[in-house]
Amino acid sequence: MSIYILGIESSCDDTSAAVLKDTAILSNVIANQDIHKTFGGVVPELASRAHQQNIIPVVEVALRRANIQKNQLSAIAFTRGPGLLGSLLVGTSFAKSFALGLNIPIIEVNHLKAHILAHFVQGNEPKKVPQFPFLCLTVSGGHTQIVKVNSPSDMHIIGNTIDDAAGEAFDKTAKIMGLPYPGGPYIDKLAKIGNPEAFHLPEPKIPGLDYSFSGLKTSFLYLVRDHLKDNPDFIEQNKADLAASMQHAIIESLLKKLKRAVKETGITEVAIAGGVSANSGLRNAITELAEKENWTTHIPEFQFTTDNAAMIAITGYFKYLEKDFAEQTIAPLSKSLF
Ligand code: KG4
Ligand code: ZN
Repeated sequence: MSIYILGIESSCDDTSAAVLKDTAILSNVIANQDIHKTFGGVVPELASRAHQQNIIPVVEVALRRANIQKNQLSAIAFTRGPGLLGSLLVGTSFAKSFALGLNIPIIEVNHLKAHILAHFVQGNEPKKVPQFPFLCLTVSGGHTQIVKVNSPSDMHIIGNTIDDAAGEAFDKTAKIMGLPYPGGPYIDKLAKIGNPEAFHLPEPKIPGLDYSFSGLKTSFLYLVRDHLKDNPDFIEQNKADLAASMQHAIIESLLKKLKRAVKETGITEVAIAGGVSANSGLRNAITELAEKENWTTHIPEFQFTTDNAAMIAITGYFKYLEKDFAEQTIAPLSKSLF
């Protein structure tokens, strides 16, 4: 008998619901919150209010697109954390009450593990899933990690950022350049027509497999500030080269440690995940590196890079197989353990 999981994601500023039939995607609906653009970043209170408005219509559309009745659902999986507490509360409360009404189990999901397990969703294009064990570079707005994935329920962080996340570095670069939030996609677009060697940005020097991006951001800020003193049009005249140089520096740093992780673990099965894995420069660079180093790489479909509920549903599916259900007394955690 097939397993139908409804996934709910509300950890930050995207309200999403998805339905999976076993590992196959039936629907994946995402409501973005444009309101934060005006403020140049996510305003937590506005995010939770928008989740409250969006959650019911988003779930209704996800069920309709999946062409199933709510009483066909086997379980409801929801993001417990990490994320913004007020935002998480909306998804958690909704999942709990909907499941109670339907008399089906609830499954708590760690958002970061879900980004990784998104690789197991059978989406619109047939794809080969990663073989265990594999390494995953998770690069999002809040996290930058290298994770050794032994199975869906056995994962270890072997490298982590000690300050900013890669996505934050993209977003702050964009902010300095006066681009809208979130800035990653804007930097990506500009970088395509810029020269990555135009400006030199110092390579972060952090031991082991860890990352640091705050120094890079400060160097970028100083570079722009110094040039603006002589030329007020500096950003406008150099925006593509600035974006390309910063993107290049971020990617170099990400791949250098990933290469080291492959060397240290001997694992050549490599995946990328999270919002920054949508970056075309990173996707090209890892594909090139993999060819050179003889790695097998897994690059997610675009719809599974940034926050989405299909990744929550697939994690729920694996936990459903293990009968790993949560209690109705469960509460969200803004800093959940990995
Ligand atoms: O995974 P995600 O949707 O949310 C978190 O869990 O944080 O990641 C959002 C991050 C933002 O920082 C956004 O700027 C970045 O992913 N991002 C990109 C691109 N698309 C999204 N960064 C670089 N290039 C992109 N194309
Ligand atoms: Zn995320």
